[in-house]
Amino acid sequence: MSQILETYLARTPGSRDLYERSSRVVPGGVHHAQRYYPPYPIYMRTGGGATVRDVDGHEYLDLWNAHYAAILGHAPAFLIDEMRAVVAGGTHFGIPSENEVRFAELLVEVLPGVDKVRFGVSGTEATMYATRLARAFTNRPTMVKVIGGWHGANTDLSVAIRPPYDVPESAGLPRDARGSTKAIPFNDIDGTRRVLDEVGDDLAGIIVEPVQGMTFVAGEPEYLSFLRDETHRRGAVLIFDEIIVGFRLELGGARAYYDIQPDLSTYGKVAGGGFHLGLVAGRDDIMSLGSAVSSLPKGQGVLMAGGTYSCNPLSMVGGRLMVEHLRDHAGTVYPYLDRIGARARAGLSRAFEAAGLTAQVTGVGSLASFHVLTEARPPFRAIQDAVGFTDHERGEVLQLALLNEGVHTHGGKAALSTAYTEADVDELVARVERAARATVAETGGN
Ligand SMILES: Cc1ncc(COP(=O)(O)O)c(C=O)c1O
Repeated sequence: MSQILETYLARTPGSRDLYERSSRVVPGGVHHAQRYYPPYPIYMRTGGGATVRDVDGHEYLDLWNAHYAAILGHAPAFLIDEMRAVVAGGTHFGIPSENEVRFAELLVEVLPGVDKVRFGVSGTEATMYATRLARAFTNRPTMVKVIGGWHGANTDLSVAIRPPYDVPESAGLPRDARGSTKAIPFNDIDGTRRVLDEVGDDLAGIIVEPVQGMTFVAGEPEYLSFLRDETHRRGAVLIFDEIIVGFRLELGGARAYYDIQPDLSTYGKVAGGGFHLGLVAGRDDIMSLGSAVSSLPKGQGVLMAGGTYSCNPLSMVGGRLMVEHLRDHAGTVYPYLDRIGARARAGLSRAFEAAGLTAQVTGVGSLASFHVLTEARPPFRAIQDAVGFTDHERGEVLQLALLNEGVHTHGGKAALSTAYTEADVDELVARVERAARATVAETGGN
């Protein structure tokens, strides 16, 4: 047996036990596909600041940070203290409250170009509603998304997520859902224009992650401007899916970072302050199609529900406290995150090089992604550039080697938080180098 695997098994009997128990009652043992890696994932017990602690008592520097949501690290004291009082006052009523009014007002204040917002409980739901709004507003059938774009598993957008991109993402999708969503290549103006020309007058809208979630490669400003101009010209709706980058790149997210105003944006993750949230935001005339008091006849308004747990006090207060904190400290939070992000990316690149593991580190701001490759490649401009060159086998060995060294991540993804000190980043880099060396020692260099 491999030394790295043997160490992993020896360190994590508690996780193994829980995974075995879970597998008896849950297909595949986990409730989110991204949370599995072989032979079984680590089960966590607690987290604080930059670290999480597993059920066997090991502490990890956490790069995953709650699917990139925990921008202030785990359990930020100011927020947790307030939330105790919120919980004591009742966790959900399903009745309008001042909490949702205050949070919505705050979002309209800090998000450039946003007139209205609408809350739900997940990002998947937010992108589903944004898509529905785009189709309804234009009265056209076809949505366009980016190859490799992940917008949650909603039916409309489950197209061209993972390679091979022309194979359906899932069984059970209605035939129509596949036919009415087309995919464009990220950061490729000519390739995108060709698809838009084919779609022609059927184009309802384009949904794009301004920074690609699969790679954390930033959209090139000319590319995103091109999408803005083309959607204007073609009378279609532009949607920025900011569920990762909203409140992370900058307070105003990609709208501020790129100074481009899409018609709609979706948010979740950071905006929820550690609680469940998804939201759609944007232009009044489009958002109003989903109004609960619309006078539109049935079939012309947009059905938007929000869900039983929408606007629960935890998400509304937790989200507001988070966004208020980010607004009040934007002048320090974002420059700091940019600085440690750049330090981490440079350090990780050096670590892989020193260890002799062929890898590419991509990312922007506080985001970093490392890709173990079969051969060195030019800097990626989109996820397709990695297809065919990803070394899955070594990547899986590195994953366990990182955990053995006390670094928690999945799929080589890092979303740093303000809880990281510069010394933590340097410690992270040292641990990654040791893990990469162990991987090379076991699998040979590439
Ligand atoms: C860009 C993007 N959109 C949508 C989603 C779906 O959000 P949720 O997991 O809250 O449903 C995600 C989640 O990872 C995401 O990264």
